[in-house]
Amino acid sequence: MNIAIIGSGYVGLVTGVCLAELGHKVICVDIDREKIAKLNKGQVSIYEPGLEELLKKFLKNKQLSFTTSIQEATQKSLAIFIAVGTPSKKNGEADLTYVENVAAKIARHMDGYRLIIEKSTVPAETGKRIERTVKFNLPKKFRKTNLREPAFDVASNPEFLREGSAIHDFMHPDRVVIGVESKRAEKMLREIYEPLKPKFVVTNINSAELIKHASNSFLATKISFINAVSQICNNIGADILKVAEGMGYDKRIGRSFLDAGIGYGGSCFPKDVDAFIRLSEHSGYDFALLKEVREVNQKQVTAFIQLIEDKMWIVKNKVVGVLGLAFKPNTDDMRNAPSLDIIRLLQHEGAKVKAYDPQAMAKARKLLKGVTFSRDVYQLAKGCDCLIVCTEWDLFKQINFRRVKQAMNQAMIFDGRNLFHDIDLAGMGFEYHGVGRGHKKIDS
Ligand code: UDX
Repeated sequence: MNIAIIGSGYVGLVTGVCLAELGHKVICVDIDREKIAKLNKGQVSIYEPGLEELLKKFLKNKQLSFTTSIQEATQKSLAIFIAVGTPSKKNGEADLTYVENVAAKIARHMDGYRLIIEKSTVPAETGKRIERTVKFNLPKKFRKTNLREPAFDVASNPEFLREGSAIHDFMHPDRVVIGVESKRAEKMLREIYEPLKPKFVVTNINSAELIKHASNSFLATKISFINAVSQICNNIGADILKVAEGMGYDKRIGRSFLDAGIGYGGSCFPKDVDAFIRLSEHSGYDFALLKEVREVNQKQVTAFIQLIEDKMWIVKNKVVGVLGLAFKPNTDDMRNAPSLDIIRLLQHEGAKVKAYDPQAMAKARKLLKGVTFSRDVYQLAKGCDCLIVCTEWDLFKQINFRRVKQAMNQAMIFDGRNLFHDIDLAGMGFEYHGVGRGHKKIDS
């Protein structure tokens, strides 16, 4: 099928490349000329495993192309995915300005049937609003002459892609959610995804939109739940890793998303939780549970800083080495990364901060002031009074801790992701603190 993707950011680009892999002919659009020029040369500005290889492959065989023109994309395609950004407004609501603009532009260039699919994460009822926008903006020529206006359908098809494994997630979906109001739209969306032989969940547009917000908010709830339990573990001398293991074997609960630490970040969870709280309010329901989920997430950072201050005693003028900056491993994404708050709070207390991340340093440099960036873990460790793990990169498991210890001024590690829980750091002479490992009790 000829498919257009409007918005070549994270979701749009991964979707475009993967739809090409499914055999479709895809044209991706973005307003950013520089980005489009780079993409046309096969250059990706985000770090996502496997993405650049697929991009190059489909540029070469011409199954994939890039343009800045919505007109060109609309005229060449039967199905059009909207994958533009939906940033948060100050009050937490999703800002749908870009979605509206794109819907209007698509409509103005329509010359026949089109299926318009929302891929961006949007609040329930956005589909209805897109439909109205398209109707208002259909070319006037259809009204002046007695030509029949082009028919169209709007559909919702939320994404569930995790950064760092987005290509894999697209190719092996747990389910494909299709929100439609017509048989024609359902048939087309089934056809698009059929090569994956997925489990389809077919419903109306409002329900599909809700599935996305409810899923991400549920996962955030799981994380905050285990983080809250981790605080109790500290207070009573229990071990969160064993608690999570013991809970996780229960099939109804499951072990995934029960990793306690410095909390969730990224471009989705914080924004989607905020948006869902607002959406619920609008609908007449006070989602107090989700408000608490957000609170608990923020408290994890504060509690981690308190732990550092407690164990280090004086933070002022101490050299702190931050291991990992990205909001999670296998990405260079710094959006809402807990490392940012942690670094700023430590700097506020007078600490001198050094940092190392295998991928995210270029982006981190633009966001952080007064941080010394290191070329590797050993350069980072040099002269440090403590190391702080903010991102659980696999690579860090290969660290030669004896070398690290020699380089450090004081052998102390605060592990915000419990990454080194199975390494005998104490045996190597480190003072080691994880999250929710019962340190208060142990020390007393
Ligand atoms: C998420 C959803 O998983 C995906 O389905 C959705 O479409 C987009 O948002 P992503 O933001 O890439 O994907 O990250 P994810 O792997 O879900 O992790 C989110 C955050 O939660 C990260 O900061 C991660 O470190 C944190 N996390 C995750 C925990 O703190 N504990 C856990 O047990 C799991």
